[in-house]
Amino acid sequence: MSHAALTSTTAFKALAQHAPDAQRWSMRDLFAEDPQRFERMSLEAAGLFLDYSKNRVDGRTLELLVSLARERGLEQQREAMFTGAKINNTEGRAVLHTALRAPRDASLAVDGQDVIADVHAVLDRVRGFTDAVRSGSWLGHTGKPITDVVNIGIGGSDLGPKMVCLALRQYAHPRLRMHFVSNVDGHDIDANLQDLDPATTLFIVASKTFTTAETMMNAQTARAWFLRSAPEDALARHFVAVSTNTEAIRAFGIDPANMFPFWDWVGGRYSVWSAIGLPVALAVGFGYFADFLAGAHEMDQHFRSAPLEENMPALLALIGFWNRQFLGAGSVSIAPYHQDLNRFPAYLQQLDMESNGKRVTRDGQPVDTPTCPVIWGDCGTNGQHAYFQLLHQGTDLTPIDFIAALRPAHEYENHHAALLANCFAQSEAFMKGKTPDEVRADLAQQGLDAAEVERLVPHKTFPGNIPSNTILVEYLTPHALGALVALYEHRTFVQGVLWNVNSFDQWGVELGKVLARKIESELTGQAQPDLHDSSTNGLIARAKAAV
Ligand code: F6P
Repeated sequence: MSHAALTSTTAFKALAQHAPDAQRWSMRDLFAEDPQRFERMSLEAAGLFLDYSKNRVDGRTLELLVSLARERGLEQQREAMFTGAKINNTEGRAVLHTALRAPRDASLAVDGQDVIADVHAVLDRVRGFTDAVRSGSWLGHTGKPITDVVNIGIGGSDLGPKMVCLALRQYAHPRLRMHFVSNVDGHDIDANLQDLDPATTLFIVASKTFTTAETMMNAQTARAWFLRSAPEDALARHFVAVSTNTEAIRAFGIDPANMFPFWDWVGGRYSVWSAIGLPVALAVGFGYFADFLAGAHEMDQHFRSAPLEENMPALLALIGFWNRQFLGAGSVSIAPYHQDLNRFPAYLQQLDMESNGKRVTRDGQPVDTPTCPVIWGDCGTNGQHAYFQLLHQGTDLTPIDFIAALRPAHEYENHHAALLANCFAQSEAFMKGKTPDEVRADLAQQGLDAAEVERLVPHKTFPGNIPSNTILVEYLTPHALGALVALYEHRTFVQGVLWNVNSFDQWGVELGKVLARKIESELTGQAQPDLHDSSTNGLIARAKAAV
């Protein structure tokens, strides 16, 4: 295993030598030269299909990338993660989101504690509680069943459950409406509470630390809103909490019987599989939540055991790394061609950017190459009519991940054919582009005169050669979604290993939190304004003048 600077590794040097040639390749040529390219560069795992043939790589590129992964110790580090070694070295913690989806008969001890038994004990409680709410046997304080669930959380305590509830809306319980409040902006909770009846509303306060300012403020506001029309002893029927911090939950006044714990070895952005997934289990039922976990577990097994050359998360990561390091791609666009995955890009943003948005290695040395690209995106086909212009003809190279289901969960077959046609057409267009000669031929056929043709040629030319991956599922089932999310989790892990960064801390979010606490007390008059820079002073003064 090498902890040497990335650029000084043997495999990186070999890649750097290979890169100038590869940078000149045209994917059109690569496809023309190898009729088997699609067969060679696609694979199936855990019910997902990945086509990575529309990338600027050949067999040799992949060989060198796999060598780099080996030289960086990927196989050993993967095993270290799965077996509970404390690979989060700045917080001294194991990283065991994979244990959250391990079957009941698995076993794994961390610090002498059987984590699988702990996981399943909590899952059993999640099942009991969610069955009761869904069946209507859990009643609000006036004797009515719950109709609305409000999850109060932010970051990993919001994005995962929200994304999954939306993605699996086809499986949702008809009586339960799910709401998500995350922003400290009072407009968020205000909009969400507008039409709710406190007597039939259940609040989930979700926070790994139970100290996050936004969540605590929203939870206090929800409590006060509820108590406007209900007595204190009704709280136990309407407030539950999910956290690793049982002391803080108790101090907030939530009944210990209504606490769903998880553990410090679950990172916030990897926590949807824990009791943080309570909204999911409420919405779709424990059986489908278990399918979601099982899909992830199947991907875990594939990731843990498949050779790197045939390992879906590793290949996705290695190609992403290649695009970042050697093709200069500073961002990656995620394009789900599935409306129900519309929060998936936002979910991946936290997963990837909070994990690998790092500038020092695990040993505190400055990294010697760029690290995590910007992750962004939105649903196809909407993006096509907004920002795809830049992807096709702008000046930066932006690789795209297309994600689609082969079969819809609706009856409008013509819509689905149109959707898939657009997805596949875009990946073809990004790969092929359109040459000046093709543009000339087109325009000439339309009867334009030669001068007009030449005037338009530069505008209508597409460079193409833009890398993309296409991930297909048959249906967007809970199992398929679990596998998809785990695929990206492991992709993030692999890239973290290549860059030798700690993918499991997030110190970069702290500075703003500290400064916000200080400015908040200045704004509310509890503290004398401190001397900031003139911009910050000016903004604070304007806000105070507006009160
Ligand atoms: O501030 C960042 C962060 O710590 C994320 O990593 C986390 O997902 C989010 O805040 C919410 O944290 P918590 O679940 O502890 O409220």
